[in-house]
Amino acid sequence: MGRIQLESVSKKYGNTHAIEDVDLDIADGEFLVLLGPSGCGKSTLLRLVAGLIQPSGGRILLDGNDITAAPPRNRDLAMVFQSYALYPHLSVAKNIGFPLRSRKFSRTVIANSVAAVASTLDLSELLDRRPAELSGGQRQRVALARAMVRDPGAFLMDEPLSNLDAKLRSATRTELIELHERIGTTFLYVTHDQVEAMTMATRIALMDNGRIEQVGTPAELYDTPRSTFVAGFLGAPPMNLFDATVAEHQGELHAVAPGVNIPLGIEACSHAEHPIVVGIRPEKMHIADSRAHVDAVVTTVENLGSEELVHIRVGSNPLCIRAPRPSTARAGAPITVRINPADVHLFDRDSGRRLTWRPEDAPVRTGTPLYVA
Ligand SMILES: Nc1ncnc2c1ncn2[C@@H]1O[C@H](COP(=O)(O)OP(=O)(O)O)[C@@H](O)[C@H]1O
Ligand SMILES: [Mg+2]
Repeated sequence: MGRIQLESVSKKYGNTHAIEDVDLDIADGEFLVLLGPSGCGKSTLLRLVAGLIQPSGGRILLDGNDITAAPPRNRDLAMVFQSYALYPHLSVAKNIGFPLRSRKFSRTVIANSVAAVASTLDLSELLDRRPAELSGGQRQRVALARAMVRDPGAFLMDEPLSNLDAKLRSATRTELIELHERIGTTFLYVTHDQVEAMTMATRIALMDNGRIEQVGTPAELYDTPRSTFVAGFLGAPPMNLFDATVAEHQGELHAVAPGVNIPLGIEACSHAEHPIVVGIRPEKMHIADSRAHVDAVVTTVENLGSEELVHIRVGSNPLCIRAPRPSTARAGAPITVRINPADVHLFDRDSGRRLTWRPEDAPVRTGTPLYVA
């Protein structure tokens, strides 16, 4: 079993809050990815769960038991580091068997367990080699095998793919997804790479500045980001974000900015001219001749083979369109863009929080058509 709960967990270094009041409930068998920019506290949170450092406040539970003060070796968790941390003088077999040897299991048990894990991870042919005689991907698998050999309640992994080249990283990503499906053990996985998070996670916890900004499935974070931070972090290229105001136009609410007039798909009711940030994904900007909502000038066109990234300037804002190839866009030429109201995200400009305004998102109360989600 491997349910991990964090309750109001904090970690201070001097006056800096590396982790601030984090609550997180990871179900047994989840692949939870801690995602966020460098320095946001991902490794610190993982090390707190592993017991390598002690929290300044809060509680950590494993399967309902308070393990906040338990030493690492008494936690049923296995950690895989970015650097692999293999013993250079030991063979692959000895490296994999190390956790069992240090726990005084019998030779036969160790040999059988090592053989089984090696077979699972396709390492059987390499058992007699030293780490120096392995490729980066093979070393990574040995580190994983060493973690798996104990059959822990959960795996803790800190950027385990970051030392691999792009092709190997992609292949290992697929292997990890398959491994998780096969063994069904809880994975708590740290990365700053949103592609890893989107492809592997059952849920993502996106962190910023020591706090969790949003927790949800990859689709939830991508489709309904609760702040401009989440909106801008997921997606490559990221969501277009620009300042606008909500204004009434011919009986309907519109998002209005220089060069921009997008109907929001609801009837006008009384409202303040609300300062907002508009968010639109590049793939939801459609080049069109008629019914245009955005007037722009094309700055550059990037050919990605399967599609084009069309960079445009709208007023003073640089925005990006992801368009099927070939598009009609030419650098220096004017362009008009159509947008479906359902694809518009609105955020409060002061707080950066998501606003809801559609009847299906929140009951529309007269006088306050915009809500903070
Ligand atoms: N041992 C430490 N002493 C002082 N500050 C630390 C220590 N470890 C981490 N920090 C600080 O805590 C913050 C979070 O660090 P970390 O968890 O390593 O971030 P991430 O893994 O997301 O890049 C950073 O500002 C970092 O400088
Ligand atoms: Mg880190």
